Amino acid sequence: MNTVIASANANIALIKYWGKRDEFFMLPTKSSISVSLDALKTTTEIGFGNSDTIKLNGVFVSDNANVKILRFLHVFRKKFATYKSFPNSSIQDTSLQYKYLQDSFFQINSVNNFPTAAGLASSASGFAALAKGLNELCGLKLDSKELSILARRGSGSASRSIIGGFNLWHKGVCPQGSDSYSEQIFKADHWPDLRIIITVVQAKQKPISSTQAMQVTVKTSKIYQDWLRNSERRVKLILDAIGNKDLDIVGELAQIDCLEMHETMRTSNPPINYWTDKTVKIIELVNKLRASGVQCYFTIDAGPNVKILTLEKYQDKILAELKNIEDIQTIVSGVAGD
Ligand code: PMV
Repeated sequence: MNTVIASANANIALIKYWGKRDEFFMLPTKSSISVSLDALKTTTEIGFGNSDTIKLNGVFVSDNANVKILRFLHVFRKKFATYKSFPNSSIQDTSLQYKYLQDSFFQINSVNNFPTAAGLASSASGFAALAKGLNELCGLKLDSKELSILARRGSGSASRSIIGGFNLWHKGVCPQGSDSYSEQIFKADHWPDLRIIITVVQAKQKPISSTQAMQVTVKTSKIYQDWLRNSERRVKLILDAIGNKDLDIVGELAQIDCLEMHETMRTSNPPINYWTDKTVKIIELVNKLRASGVQCYFTIDAGPNVKILTLEKYQDKILAELKNIEDIQTIVSGVAGD
């Protein structure tokens, strides 16, 4: 089979996206800011086929697991229905040339170098790699803004994984999302000693998908509108703090944004909780270390894993302390390039 290979790094939001203003076009209720992680990467091989087939980490995925990907391929085919695909330079088989994309099917083989669906944003790197791969395979020549808009249709946070460094995902105002995309605000080399220590406390599927959890939160949490206002304000503040490489301000803002976001979930009906006892233990450890002069802060997404923001010089000390907590894995990441 003639295939192309594309890859993308995961990202974590420093100022979060939580809630959609449009479910179909995947439009967020607010802007968000992320950092791309060089240690977490998805690599996707993709070629044309007679039907859509999806392999994740070497295994063909079942209907339930691939429904999001099939929906994304459907969106892709509709969006580019009248485009003619043509092989890029690496594809020589002329029988594949000039096929209308509405009639194309894809064989996808996607591999993560980290646990899938453990709250480590595998959907972000997954859909970003898929968008890049489809672009290359079909010769669409989409730029990074268009790729971000495309990846967003698979998973909101994927819009922030097209490029490395630090990204700002603009909320946008257009009804179909043509202005809701991510743009790089700082390159990776802006902050070479920033480290993100990812603690994997439970590498299994989450109890409720982020999509469902967001819907419940937006509909039922009485404090959701407060978080929205506060968090949008923090987007502007953190831009300056990242620019100044001020870990204390970046960390304080990221931490409070995450805590308030999780509070909106806890005040939903029914209440949603992604944390476990270990999540709380790690939070307490981070607080204790910070009180003792180690610059470190935490952020948590839709899962139990804690991501610790720190600097290279504190990394070994933090890792040594984390060893005292049983059954957790740690992954140390810097900021992903490109
Ligand atoms: O893109 P999704 O649907 O996986 O949502 C991601 C939501 C959070 O990770 C909790 C926050 C964020 O901004 O990434």
